[in-house]
Amino acid sequence: MGRTFYVNGEFVAEQNAKISVLDRGFLFADAVYEVSTVLKGKLIDNKAHLRRLARSLAELSMAPPYADDEILAAQMKLLEMNEIDEGLLYLQVSRGVADRDFAYPANAKSSLVMFTQEKSLLDSPMAKQGMHIISIPDQRWKRRDIKTVGLLAPSMGKQAAVDAGVHDAWMVEDGLVTEGTSNNAYIVTHDKKIQTRHLGHEILSGITRTAVLKFAKAAGYTVVEEPFTIEAARKASEAFITSASSFVMPVVNIDGVSLGDGNPGPVSLELRQIYIETALQHQDL
Ligand code: PDD
Repeated sequence: MGRTFYVNGEFVAEQNAKISVLDRGFLFADAVYEVSTVLKGKLIDNKAHLRRLARSLAELSMAPPYADDEILAAQMKLLEMNEIDEGLLYLQVSRGVADRDFAYPANAKSSLVMFTQEKSLLDSPMAKQGMHIISIPDQRWKRRDIKTVGLLAPSMGKQAAVDAGVHDAWMVEDGLVTEGTSNNAYIVTHDKKIQTRHLGHEILSGITRTAVLKFAKAAGYTVVEEPFTIEAARKASEAFITSASSFVMPVVNIDGVSLGDGNPGPVSLELRQIYIETALQHQDL
């Protein structure tokens, strides 16, 4: 049996999971989304994801399609129906269906779609080998703190990485790293400080970022929330990324330059382990 999808209150098979061509998510990328991790059949840090969803909606004056407890109930039912043990739950809210007009329609009803995707997350070959990345110019819009589905610039970045034979790209603006195509970016300095860009309109406030910085401080690391250059990253002791789908993933090569001995660094691996161990014990981090 195929996967069950959720579309505006209905649990349906893929061939029946449809939205209108007039949906503003389709026409204007007028939609926001969240990706939550599923480990051992449970959603990780989902409350934080729903909080960020509410913030994205508010920033765009988009009405929430349902109350949080209703969304949560639908999420749980979808996980159960799809019997998913490890992977991701994708959730998207669009402003809804209306005749094409740039201004927000007065009466559109926001829509909610969700699906699950099985993925092996804990046992990751990439975590053992580390990622190779390239740097690219950040070509995105200026409100990256809102998690919209306007993802063409990051898709182009990811494709540039694939074409270059590497795993991902870090985006650079005004000489400073903003973030990865779908993750937050970090370096570990030679005096073992963990550095990542401060929050603002320039980057997404990652749910994994919040948890990992908390764990890093609890483990005794100094965290510096300041932007860094790509040159500083190439000379760093270690580098890593964080996201719901990758947890903490070591970066071992930037623009063809190996970091340290070219293997995943100890700080990145320690933070990955702490994150995974905590997530397996607690749903909210
Ligand atoms: N991406 N920055 C960007 C631009 C992202 O798209 C993401 C997440 C993150 C990390 O956020 P979080 O820790 O909340 O996953 C940072 C998701 C996973 C995606 O688009 O698939």
